[in-house]
Amino acid sequence: MKTDLQKLTFIILKPFILFIILSLSIFVFLSIQATTRRPPPAPDSTALPSDLKIRPGYSSYDSYLQRQLNKTLNPKLRHIWTTRDWDRKVSKFAQFFSDLQRRDLISNSSRSLCIGARVGQEVAALRRIGVENSVGIDLVPYPPLVIKGDFHHQPFVDGSFDFEFSNVFDHALYPWQFVGEIERTLARGGVCVLHVLLSRRADKYSANDLFSVKPLEEMFKKSELIEVRSIDGFGLDTEVVFRKIRN
Ligand SMILES: C[S@@+](CC[C@H](N)C(=O)[O-])C[C@H]1O[C@@H](n2cnc3c(N)ncnc32)[C@H](O)[C@@H]1O
Ligand SMILES: *[C@@H]1O[C@H](CO)[C@@H](O)[C@H](O)[C@H]1NC(C)=O
Ligand SMILES: *[C@@H]1O[C@H](CO)[C@@H](O)[C@H](O)[C@H]1NC(C)=O
Repeated sequence: MKTDLQKLTFIILKPFILFIILSLSIFVFLSIQATTRRPPPAPDSTALPSDLKIRPGYSSYDSYLQRQLNKTLNPKLRHIWTTRDWDRKVSKFAQFFSDLQRRDLISNSSRSLCIGARVGQEVAALRRIGVENSVGIDLVPYPPLVIKGDFHHQPFVDGSFDFEFSNVFDHALYPWQFVGEIERTLARGGVCVLHVLLSRRADKYSANDLFSVKPLEEMFKKSELIEVRSIDGFGLDTEVVFRKIRN
């Protein structure tokens, strides 16, 4: 009698037990699927330091590039940049670079890169003060001073430069990639100088807004911050200097 009752209980319970085991397996399987299928954490603005904001409104990388190119390719502006603006801007850049030369941050033998150099006024300035081995990159080339290249994917091998300069940090849609590429192509001991705007919002072609130097310190993972000073640089107010200390 007792064994009959046990048998009966088992017969009734069996489907339930099987059901629970099956459900658990499916649940575990689906959870594993979900974790493996999930894309890597998107380097979106929520992952960024709080003093750096990516501007919304770029629906794709292509729409970002189109916007950047729209101004850079403007024939009237290109004419002005290469004629009326030329000497004034080259002279001012030459002053900034001579200052860096005096502080031993750049030498005549430095292999130098200017990022987002447009028509290459900063490259011309470096060459004028004796830094012969200088070149610029921009989405639009302007030979021989500026070759074509996207600063999110610099067209150079690791450790190519001793000095990199840029005043276009605000144009980076992926600032951590902008910085990562600088640290990749700088040699150990190499210097990066950025001119940035902290006191107000930059222009309508900017892709990000920076509110302090702190985000830069966080992104330059292989470098040490060696200087921050106020400048008056074509609408930009702060010069930030990093030295790459490890590969
Ligand atoms: C404000 S202009 C600065 C030009 C130059 N540095 C100067 O001071 O005269 C910004 C430049 O960044 C370039 N640029 C924007 N996005 C870029 C990218 N992803 N890669 C390379 N250059 C880019 C634009 O084409 C433009 O020439
Ligand atoms: C680029 O500029 C032209 C005129 O100069 C304008 O018609 C066009 O809408 C602009 N495109 C973008 C993506 O801003
Ligand atoms: C660097 O080059 C400039 C221009 O050619 C020259 O005047 C200057 O003396 C050089 N500096 C050094 C330290 O050699």
